[in-house]
Amino acid sequence: TDTHTAGPFIAAIDQGTTSSRCIVFDRDGRIVAVDQKEHEQIFPKPGWVEHDANEIWANVQEVVAGAVRKAGVTRDDIKAIGITNQRETTLVWDKNTGEPVHNAIVWQDTRTDALCRELGRNVGQDRFRRETGLPLASYFAGPKARWLLDNVDGLRERAEAGDLLFGTMDTWAIWNLTGGVNGGKHVTDVTNASRTLLMSLRTLQWDEKICESIGVPPQMLPEIRSSAEVYGEITGGPLGELLGGIPVASALGDQQAALFGQTCFDEGETKSTYGTGTFMLMNTGDKVINSYSGLVTTVGYQIGDQKPVYALEGSIAVTGSLVQWMRDQMGLISTAAEIETLAMQVEDNGGAYFVPAFSGLFAPYWRSDARGVIAGLTRYVTKAHLARAVLEATAWQTREIADAMTKDSGVELTTLKVDGGMTSNNLLMQTLADFLDAPVVRPMVAETTCLGAAYAAGLAVGFWNSTDDLRANWRRAAEWTPRMDADTRDREYKSWLKAVERTMGWID
Ligand code: G3P
Repeated sequence: TDTHTAGPFIAAIDQGTTSSRCIVFDRDGRIVAVDQKEHEQIFPKPGWVEHDANEIWANVQEVVAGAVRKAGVTRDDIKAIGITNQRETTLVWDKNTGEPVHNAIVWQDTRTDALCRELGRNVGQDRFRRETGLPLASYFAGPKARWLLDNVDGLRERAEAGDLLFGTMDTWAIWNLTGGVNGGKHVTDVTNASRTLLMSLRTLQWDEKICESIGVPPQMLPEIRSSAEVYGEITGGPLGELLGGIPVASALGDQQAALFGQTCFDEGETKSTYGTGTFMLMNTGDKVINSYSGLVTTVGYQIGDQKPVYALEGSIAVTGSLVQWMRDQMGLISTAAEIETLAMQVEDNGGAYFVPAFSGLFAPYWRSDARGVIAGLTRYVTKAHLARAVLEATAWQTREIADAMTKDSGVELTTLKVDGGMTSNNLLMQTLADFLDAPVVRPMVAETTCLGAAYAAGLAVGFWNSTDDLRANWRRAAEWTPRMDADTRDREYKSWLKAVERTMGWID
């Protein structure tokens, strides 16, 4: 962290899948202080993933206070606070007590598989795609809310009586920050709402008919607002004492926040974030491009009352979490960074391909019946080859999405802006450039997710004047250029695609 910066500042909260963090930024978009805390991953059954929302809210308060303390600043130095979050993770709580009625159901959770198949049969896939831009998949929030209403005793009655609130993690954080049971604002932003399967992409409002067919009563849904405007002020509780009155001025799903933080403001600009999963987004301007290649159409961002900017997204469920799995479940490495040193011990994958379809396959296949495979095993394969196959899995999945984006948008990928924890892995970044046959660049501030939320909040309160100010802050830190010959790339790609086929149809 820097000590040379003087205020004022913007703070951003990133409520992520594995941790919550808060970063304080200065006007140049430099990091002044960071605080972070992990929360528990709850796996009640195979395919189920939950979070304790009370633990998350406690952590959010702790990291905000922690970052402000580390930055050594007071409430007057902080002009606004922004929020970005893991998307789709679904919570229902009682508006009178503030108590969640169940753990949050996490985006990776596959318990709504059968429900989604049933909706597909009764209502039809196409209708959802056309209205919401999304395929019917267990990934998205709406069916998760329906599952709660069907499976927790008495919930539907309470929802219909207007006692329950639905929210993704942005909504939960904003409601609590702005007073909770004492007048907390029940809002979400267009980017988070675009991941529910309940919002019309064109009107940017809840689609009543779709809500009805999924079975979610509209009275429990938050108001949909832009991504950059003042929703309310911090009030109540210990944070109210510390930071009371600071405007809560942005909300963006984490992947859209990274697009914003990478300053991908022009049509065709593309970023990919390498975290638990990997999410590649291309700015498509004011165009809603329907995907015929397995991508998702989503809202990129909307600044105040300006026109919304749309994006095409390729979502990959498992990338960084495969490295964690190698560490925690397999014990083949003891730290995540070791995956690189282990993979460096060999020249290639030894013939092995690892397709981590742990939550089914997301883009471009959307197959919830898929499960993971390691293909091509012989007695020759060592754990170093597997480490290589693990890294290659991330790069090949990105390549498949890049191909789909070119097909849908007609725009060739000229450079890929990357960020996220896995970008510190040089071998992975080189492999990515090789498989994409395009340069890969990483900016100086790799915390683009928080930065994007800070940028949006700063624009909302006039801390920054325009997106041009933000673009001026983007500086290149590293670049990888392709070195692989085309024959090798094509041959390897074919083998990868064969391995992908082997994952499908595992679950009946
Ligand atoms: O769609 C899920 C995504 O928003 C989660 O991102 O970085 O918390 O794994 P992350």
